[in-house]
Amino acid sequence: MNKITISVPSSVANVSCGFDVLGFCLEKPCDEMTVEIKKKQGVDIQIINEKSIPTNPKDNVCGAVAFAMIKKLNFKYGFKIKIIKNIKPGSGIGSSAASAAGTAFAINKLTGNIFSKLDLVKYAMYGEEIASGAKHADNLSPVIFGGFTLVRSLKPLDIIPLPSLKELYVIITHPLIELKTKDARLIIDKKINLEKAIQQWGNLAGFIASLYTKNYELMSKTIEDVIIEPQRLKLIPNYREIVDSVSKYTLGSGISGAGPSIFSICKGEHNSELVLDKIREITDKKSIEYNLILSNINTEGIKIIN
Ligand code: HSE
Repeated sequence: MNKITISVPSSVANVSCGFDVLGFCLEKPCDEMTVEIKKKQGVDIQIINEKSIPTNPKDNVCGAVAFAMIKKLNFKYGFKIKIIKNIKPGSGIGSSAASAAGTAFAINKLTGNIFSKLDLVKYAMYGEEIASGAKHADNLSPVIFGGFTLVRSLKPLDIIPLPSLKELYVIITHPLIELKTKDARLIIDKKINLEKAIQQWGNLAGFIASLYTKNYELMSKTIEDVIIEPQRLKLIPNYREIVDSVSKYTLGSGISGAGPSIFSICKGEHNSELVLDKIREITDKKSIEYNLILSNINTEGIKIIN
């Protein structure tokens, strides 16, 4: 095999209570990536429908991942990477993570499939570092493992795949403005109040317990961020109005990753459709354009198309 085409999904990181450690994979939107071995060394990158992403491999997320893997494998050829970008950069649903994870997954398949999923996350983190200035794995892990994941530790990297509940639906409310993860990280105060930290890790533990016990009431109580979201809210247009208008029908809402998208989690399709309609009523009246997405949880992660 010298060429592979894959569908690489978007993801929601943080899920309010798990900044930099919790995430889940979405069924849509997905990028389509084709990676091909080329006889000459180096990495060529082509992005079909998005002009804002640098295609010089030295500045590109895919380039960073590919170079790290080429070095490790002592690979004497190079790769051509083509992306049909459906996950908008700077939207908060893991656009750079999809490119990084897809590159690691595809190169592994093309070079003998010797790496574990954990290894793939490690290589993909080189891409996240270029995109956000920090090596975090909370978007990458669900894309590579599927479903919900917990990044228990970065050094050494330890990822725990969590149960995924079929009844969960997710609405993504994406204002069409770009918010760079780097910028949304810069505004965060590095010092944490102990009382708030206690509340936050109580919520994170509770959220994980709710996945194992299918306890939706508990889940609903735990989708809360008392540390990071309060500092980032000013970056998210119409956040309060949107979240409050649907709180009756959701298990919870929060900033998706670093924003500007908002995620809302619902139990059951009926609730999710109500939420979508309610949010559309609000966003239709705003001067900013919004893209609304309704998705299931993707338990598989990256899928091979060809
Ligand atoms: N955990 C990261 C953040 C996700 O909130 O900055 C963004 O990629």
